[in-house]
Amino acid sequence: MPQDFMPGLAGIPAAKSAISDVDGQRGVLEYRGIRVEELCLKSSYLETAYLLLFGHLPTQPQLTRWHEDIVHHRRIKFTIVDLLKCLPEQGHPMDALQASVAVLGMFYPGRTVQDIDNNYWSAVRLVAKLPTLVAAWARLRQGNEYIPPRDDLGFAENFLYMLTETVPDPVWADVFDDCLILHAEHTMNASTFTGLITASTLADPYTVVASAIGALKGPLHGGANEEVVQMLQAIGQPEKARPYLEEQIRRKQRLMGFGHRVYKVKDPRALVLQRLCEKLFKESGRSPLYAVALEVERVAAELLTGKGIYPNVDFYSGIIYNKMGIETDLFTPLFAMARVSGWLAHWLEQLRENKLFRPDQIYSGEHGRSYVPIAGRPEPRP
Ligand code: ACO
Repeated sequence: MPQDFMPGLAGIPAAKSAISDVDGQRGVLEYRGIRVEELCLKSSYLETAYLLLFGHLPTQPQLTRWHEDIVHHRRIKFTIVDLLKCLPEQGHPMDALQASVAVLGMFYPGRTVQDIDNNYWSAVRLVAKLPTLVAAWARLRQGNEYIPPRDDLGFAENFLYMLTETVPDPVWADVFDDCLILHAEHTMNASTFTGLITASTLADPYTVVASAIGALKGPLHGGANEEVVQMLQAIGQPEKARPYLEEQIRRKQRLMGFGHRVYKVKDPRALVLQRLCEKLFKESGRSPLYAVALEVERVAAELLTGKGIYPNVDFYSGIIYNKMGIETDLFTPLFAMARVSGWLAHWLEQLRENKLFRPDQIYSGEHGRSYVPIAGRPEPRP
């Protein structure tokens, strides 16, 4: 019988992991011991994905092979393109992504997760194909043709190309690649935990990733980035930030993109994202949303003082994507195509010493009730 019940499992370790670490008091996030700020400056998303998955930075031959394997597996089968065409175009892209990732597994029937070689190829396929699925859906739902990946383009560059049919400016590709690094991994969050629960049944990795995508969609998790941009657009001008926030607080509404279970200071990823905003604006002009965001942050610090609520990763990321002309409902799928490497790293780590997740509960219902025939049941209260 459990003694203490912690709603949301707050503070309860669910795994031992060597993949990433957060110091919520100092605002430090490390992947395999390396600070995320340093990775943004010196690494690339694909190299960071390798680091997360295999535990060390790759040598040049390892990185070359990893890159080649990813490039080789970026394409999706035409039947998946046909499947995407059949989905309702007004549906949410996260649902299309979840459905297509689940279907992807049907094409690669190596069901056993004990086969290390097969697990490597599953990880390659998932990291490689998620951007293709996101871009394909974004185009197909608007009646445009699917653009296949181009082997000569880098990871971020190729994604933006598949989305827009234009090879992006190198600054845009760099900024986007850094965004992917920042979203690649974040310890035991809701989507990673969801994936690990599925993985603990020894389900295949496509099912693991599909279930993690479902958890990421919610507005308390990855879905917040969409709502942030909608909020900033609704506020419209910096001087309207204060009355908007006061009204939200009066109505006990949460500010999207603020607050975090672990960080009690500003999320380090939000700080890097602000630098990336400035880098992008220098190249392409400022976004009016950024001035509104800065004022929201300033007023929130005043109004929510003492609560330890600061901007999280979702607060500034949407401004970058919005400036790049990416539709708001694609923001969470972008998060998923970066986070897939973190989910898979946890999947591989857990497989080494797998134990089925089967937590306990504190039963709060009745015992020993009799079955009442339908005619004798009381009328429900109005
Ligand atoms: N705006 C206003 N108040 C907030 C916010 C917020 N964004 N977040 C927390 N609070 C307040 C709560 O109302 C509560 O106040 P009270 O003690 O007076 O009742 C207190 O802070 C603690 O809140 P909890 O919900 O217990 O904190 P928790 O750790 O569970 O919350 C969460 C974390 C869910 C992320 C929360 O901060 C939130 O809802 N934020 C908005 C959604 C969001 O931005 N999600 C993205 C998170 S990052 C990510 O997942 C990628």
